Amino acid sequence: MKTPIYDFLTEYKNKSGIRFHMPGHKGRGSDELSSVSPFDITEISGADFLFNTSDGGIIGESEKNASQLFNSALTVYSTEGSTLALKTMLFLAVKGKRKKILAARNVHKSFINACALIDIDVDWLFPGEAVDSVCTIRLSADDFENALSNYKKSELPSAVYITTPDYLGNMLDIHSISDVCKKYEIPLLVDNAHGAYLNFLSNNIHPLNLGADMCCDSAHKTLPCLTGGAYLHISKNTKDEFKSRANVKEAMQIFATTSPSYLILASLDLCNRILSNKEYIDKLNNTCKRVNALKNEIKLIGFDLIDSPHTEPLKLVLLTNKLGIDGKELLYMLEKHNICCEYADISSVVLMISPENNDNDFNALLSALKEIKSSLSRTSNISNTAFNITKPEKKMSIRNALFSKSENIPIEKALGRICSSSVSICPPCIPLVVSGEVFDRKTINLLKRYSIFSVNVVK
Ligand SMILES: Cc1ncc(COP(=O)(O)O)c(C=O)c1O
Repeated sequence: MKTPIYDFLTEYKNKSGIRFHMPGHKGRGSDELSSVSPFDITEISGADFLFNTSDGGIIGESEKNASQLFNSALTVYSTEGSTLALKTMLFLAVKGKRKKILAARNVHKSFINACALIDIDVDWLFPGEAVDSVCTIRLSADDFENALSNYKKSELPSAVYITTPDYLGNMLDIHSISDVCKKYEIPLLVDNAHGAYLNFLSNNIHPLNLGADMCCDSAHKTLPCLTGGAYLHISKNTKDEFKSRANVKEAMQIFATTSPSYLILASLDLCNRILSNKEYIDKLNNTCKRVNALKNEIKLIGFDLIDSPHTEPLKLVLLTNKLGIDGKELLYMLEKHNICCEYADISSVVLMISPENNDNDFNALLSALKEIKSSLSRTSNISNTAFNITKPEKKMSIRNALFSKSENIPIEKALGRICSSSVSICPPCIPLVVSGEVFDRKTINLLKRYSIFSVNVVK
């Protein structure tokens, strides 16, 4: 597959022209910086415009390559992560319509921020049952059917929004949820920040392939791409208004920097070449098999794992309750063995794997876990610490609460006060209380469980 952005940058670097344009390093700089700075340019002549790609322009051509790989009607690049892509997706979904979205509660904080900026009102779908973590809520297509059937036709939300896979790798049944959305003629938007690679599995379980209308993927989270690189994909089976490149670019530029990083664009471009290579795809699928085997080896050592048919293949989530330790304790122990993890909370540790990991990495992980297990003197019978996610009462819109005068107060004094800036556990930035909601006793207890001791409330 061609790499027009990378080729342009290489040619430009080799030409060694005298740069009277941004950025300030002029392709030079200290020894360290000069190893990357020659590729770091601005939208100079020939370099196309991210938000106004021209026919035959290098960015437009590269995006078409990505679109071909993801079998989308349209794929556009973001150099500001899924954070920018999902703002764009939400803007497109509500433009000219009711600014109301039905969303599963375990959203990333960037969704809340987008709702504040666009002034979207959210109806939340909470889990019916107790959860083990705020990151995961298991909702079925029936939950969406029940929720949507309660609206009058004229008051239906403009879109349904789900986060899958979530931070712990749990995947929702996109296919069935999409059937429900189709019945109500509502687009299904998917935060697929963690699942770009799902498109390249032998059983393609990428949201576009399962019926999503639009989705955002953080290429940088699971593909060989620099941090910040992400896609907004538009399905071939969605409304024509979403498929218009001009509309999508127009929407994205509202929220984006006017100085997109060509380093990130080049890495998205190079990613296309890697993803069109059969060897890489075989390696990816073999890595999934290897991780499956790794999970069994880890269980044999005596660790509990999240492992279900609904878990995405490249996340490894170690559960620590039975060991009598906190997830963060295990993370620090692993760090002492030079194993660096993605995230830990009170009961789990998340490791993210890609084809760039190899057998040496897996063996190092296994021997670290063996040593840690044998050094643990504590045991615990706690096998289930499930709790209920609270459903705080909504008193103000997200936007009004966020833009109101606010003050920071100790959590104990927050009872009955309206939340100004959403309170998230970060990472993974899942909000426990959203701007405009009221702090009740149960919510305060939940926040303390996550060591949150002060909050911003509306004055
Ligand atoms: C579920 C989810 N959605 C969206 C985002 C934002 O993605 P990005 O960091 O690419 O902007 C994240 C980041 O961690 C995430 O976990």
